[in-house]
Amino acid sequence: MIIDIITVSPDLLVSPFSHSIMKRAQDKGLLTVRTHNLRDWALNKYGQIDDYQYGGGAGMVMMCEPLANAIERLQQTTTYDDIIYMTPDGPRFNQQMANQLSMKANLLIICGHYKGIDQRIRDLYITKEISIGDYVLSGGELAAAVVVDAIGRLLPGVLNDETSALFDSFQDHLLAPPVYTRPAEFKGLKVPDILLSGDPKKVEDWRHEQSIQRTKARRPDILE
Ligand code: ADE
Repeated sequence: MIIDIITVSPDLLVSPFSHSIMKRAQDKGLLTVRTHNLRDWALNKYGQIDDYQYGGGAGMVMMCEPLANAIERLQQTTTYDDIIYMTPDGPRFNQQMANQLSMKANLLIICGHYKGIDQRIRDLYITKEISIGDYVLSGGELAAAVVVDAIGRLLPGVLNDETSALFDSFQDHLLAPPVYTRPAEFKGLKVPDILLSGDPKKVEDWRHEQSIQRTKARRPDILE
């Protein structure tokens, strides 16, 4: 999968993809993340990519031409399944959206700044808008990193244990059960006996029941 990202702060997108699972996904050739600096398409030598808003009001708006030129240049060499705009007024990101996006071949993500991008770019080019939550970040980069991470770990071959993403929280409209590792007793708290029983069926049933209880208690809204 190829994910191209248009940003005014490419540096912000280096570290999130340089470690752990995202690094492995790229080293294995399963994921390619390429960042593109919007200022390379600025209209003047000052690198201008934003301007005052029509109608007045505080805050700058990202201009049409640099974004349109950047998108059209990238489209010459890559066909995108979706052109995504990261914005707090978009539909809220969830595991189901991550699952769907992980099945696409090529994505282009636009990171907004300031008051956002000119509405005409949204009308002309954007096929999907995504918010990562009901709060406003200073730019779309960290939101894009969240989305790429959630997608990247779902790509076949990225996780070592192929099945483990299946048991993540949210995959079955359930939260994941509690997990334990050694020691069997810590500060007086014991690992539940059933996990030491060696009976895979009992363990599976216990985990499922724990998932249901946890979801009822913490996130009844996601229970089907
Ligand atoms: N840009 C600024 N805030 C955002 C959010 N909550 N989600 C996606 N993009 C954003």
